[in-house]
Amino acid sequence: MKTHTPLVVGNWKMNPATLGDARKLFLATRKAIGRKKIITQVAVAPPFPFLSEMERLSPSQRIGLSAQDVFFESIGAHTGEVSLPMLKSVGVTSVIVGHSERRAAGETDAEIYKDIQAIFKSGVTAIVCVGEQARDSHGNYFGIVEAQLRSALRDIPKSKLSQLVIAYEPVWAIGTGKHATAEDVHEMKLFIQKIVADQFGRPAIKKVRVLYGGSVKETNAQELFEDGRVDGFLIGGASLNPVEFGKIIHIADDYAKSNL
Ligand code: PGA
Repeated sequence: MKTHTPLVVGNWKMNPATLGDARKLFLATRKAIGRKKIITQVAVAPPFPFLSEMERLSPSQRIGLSAQDVFFESIGAHTGEVSLPMLKSVGVTSVIVGHSERRAAGETDAEIYKDIQAIFKSGVTAIVCVGEQARDSHGNYFGIVEAQLRSALRDIPKSKLSQLVIAYEPVWAIGTGKHATAEDVHEMKLFIQKIVADQFGRPAIKKVRVLYGGSVKETNAQELFEDGRVDGFLIGGASLNPVEFGKIIHIADDYAKSNL
């Protein structure tokens, strides 16, 4: 029995090249999702310059808008940064934080902590990414994920937990075509839930969704969802293919509908 309705988020990363292409991708995604009633929450995270146009194309918010990053300050002399008030003013309702590609570009746990604090204050949902670089036979990856999570979740008030989504994204699976097995994903989900329960108490598990990301495709989505028992997906490459993205959404949705 699932406790959450699914959440599927498409992270477009630094794609597509132009606003015109972004418009086409968004409209094709909308078409691929179709008109059938779904219980799955869907969002896409386009590059910043495209957000306000995507908001215009989705007045019903059937496809929510997510941002790929944020800066924790609200306004001022911070060249190149984008704030939460700016994101909210163009319809953003969730922000991806601590994606491994940003961590690789130098983002630290301390910055991620500040971003999360600012996101919680703003009322937006934080999609916090955690994941190990590589797997070894000693299970050190659990310690890595635990350290990332404990740092990210510090000082979050219990009352705001429904704004928290955790995405398990093993770095070795991102964009490589090698996804984690459903068993490994399930094991990590239970581990993440244990950390959440340790910090906030067992009822917190019902409030916090755990997603999986890393080479999710139409061909592995069913297994990752059903046996990995995740609450949804954070999808990179496959979200740029609207037909495939739509199929993944419907796989999650059909399964969730038959199990709620
Ligand atoms: P991928 O990316 O689906 O292309 O592996 C996932 C992500 O980076 O969130």
